[in-house]
Amino acid sequence: MKEELSILVKAQYPLIYLVTPEEERAEQEIAKIAQSSTQHQRVFMWTMTQGMVEYGQSHGQSRQQPQHNTISPEAAIQWTIQQREPGIFIFKDLHDFITGAGVKRALRDAIASFKGTEKIILLMSPLQEVPLELEKEVVVMDFPLPDMAELNQVLSKQLNQTKTRRTSTEVREKLLKAALGLTRDEAEKVYRKAHVKAGRLTQEEVDIILSEKKQLIRRNGILEYIEEDETIDSIGGLEELKKWLKQRSGAFTERAREYGLPQPKGMLILGVPGCGKSLIAKTTSRLWGLPILRLDMGRIYDGSMVGRSEANLRNALKTAESISPAILFIDEIDKSFAGGTGSSDSDGGTSSRIFGSFLTWMQEKTSPVFVMATANRIERLPGEFLRKGRFDEIFFVDLPTPEERQDIFRIHLSKRREDISRFDLDQLAKMSEGFSGAEIEQALIAAMYEAFAQDREFTQLDIIAALKATLPLSRTMTEQVTALRDWARQRARPAASSTAEYQRLEF
Ligand SMILES: Nc1ncnc2c1ncn2[C@@H]1O[C@H](COP(=O)(O)OP(=O)(O)O)[C@@H](O)[C@H]1O
Ligand SMILES: [Mg+2]
Repeated sequence: MKEELSILVKAQYPLIYLVTPEEERAEQEIAKIAQSSTQHQRVFMWTMTQGMVEYGQSHGQSRQQPQHNTISPEAAIQWTIQQREPGIFIFKDLHDFITGAGVKRALRDAIASFKGTEKIILLMSPLQEVPLELEKEVVVMDFPLPDMAELNQVLSKQLNQTKTRRTSTEVREKLLKAALGLTRDEAEKVYRKAHVKAGRLTQEEVDIILSEKKQLIRRNGILEYIEEDETIDSIGGLEELKKWLKQRSGAFTERAREYGLPQPKGMLILGVPGCGKSLIAKTTSRLWGLPILRLDMGRIYDGSMVGRSEANLRNALKTAESISPAILFIDEIDKSFAGGTGSSDSDGGTSSRIFGSFLTWMQEKTSPVFVMATANRIERLPGEFLRKGRFDEIFFVDLPTPEERQDIFRIHLSKRREDISRFDLDQLAKMSEGFSGAEIEQALIAAMYEAFAQDREFTQLDIIAALKATLPLSRTMTEQVTALRDWARQRARPAASSTAEYQRLEF
């Protein structure tokens, strides 16, 4: 990934926009590229506080004097035009000025004058802000987060300091993997903190690092680590979907690559609310042994500044990629497309742009990030989203069949009582026609409360009474459920075993 930057520089792209919060790391990388280039480009750096300063040979230690009269961004850009020698001119945080008419014009003048000169302007900023007029001239690139090799340097430094001499390759790898997805500074902090806490860095400290990482990731507020204790066996029915998932539990292993299998891209689970879509997505983490990160689409939208939402999305995706192989869980993705905040009518097209970027990313991603999206309503989903090939599979989760309902009762009763032979599951399944899994669970809990209040054990009759007192969603929202089914019948694969699928009662 870092090679990409080097290639852009060597190919003399006149205007490169490097998006990164890691200034120091990026500067060092650019200095390295400049040194290795045959033209021996000098590196200059502009900030609004100092103006243009030549980048110190030994990592900025020998501070150079700023160039005269280069504080204003326009003047600094003019100055680059006047330079005769090859050079890389880094502008930090120009995003604050880039929409100004003078700056835009100066940049375009510079690009035009740079042809054949081996001069490059490199904009470096944590935020991406590209005015329309420059979109065709600038190439935007995310500076990648540290990879294992770079983290290894950070870890080695920490291990040297702590005199933890002998760490097996295996432990080392675990410590490194645990820090993937962090910036170099964050990784340093996390290793240091783990060491301070435990007085060493061994296998046992991996958990400290992981939990630190979770907090750091949580702080950006868009991605969230999820831990799910339930396993896939605590879900009743959905046999086809389960089979699909189980078959792919080794899909991200080296062995699967050698076998010649492609990496799965993602799946979309559509269906009736309360039927286990979110739960099955979360349990896939354990089934596949991969971390699962929830992407909150709603939190991506940030109206405070143009380009902020895009940057948020890219940051989140970048983090997910750096942690990969991983599952990216987008629950109720339909909600982020219509109605409420982020609607395309109310936000000047931000949501459709974001969505476009997301689709492009899905299309082009090569990193093993498996997208697992769920949706309750299809009419909100844009057509491109459902097009064949976007996802490996689109599953439809319908209301449970009678057999599935038996299964769900068995699971939820067994969770709460050792011996469930006193319950007639067949009867319960019959009495719960039209119930979702969530509604079955709720009825069971209601029955338990009833009996608990009367200070006795709950019985079959309590459950039946609770079922009778419930009006399931499928009856209150018959039309929506029917519409969803009709739609899905033609376009999605049923999650339940296929034979049982369409014999159920219509509402
Ligand atoms: N098929 C099922 N088997 C067992 N429990 C279920 C099932 N479907 C739903 N539930 C229960 O209902 C809860 C809510 O389901 P959820 O996964 O959030 O539904 P959805 O995402 O489809 O709206 C689950 O956590 C689980 O306890
Ligand atoms: Mg859900």
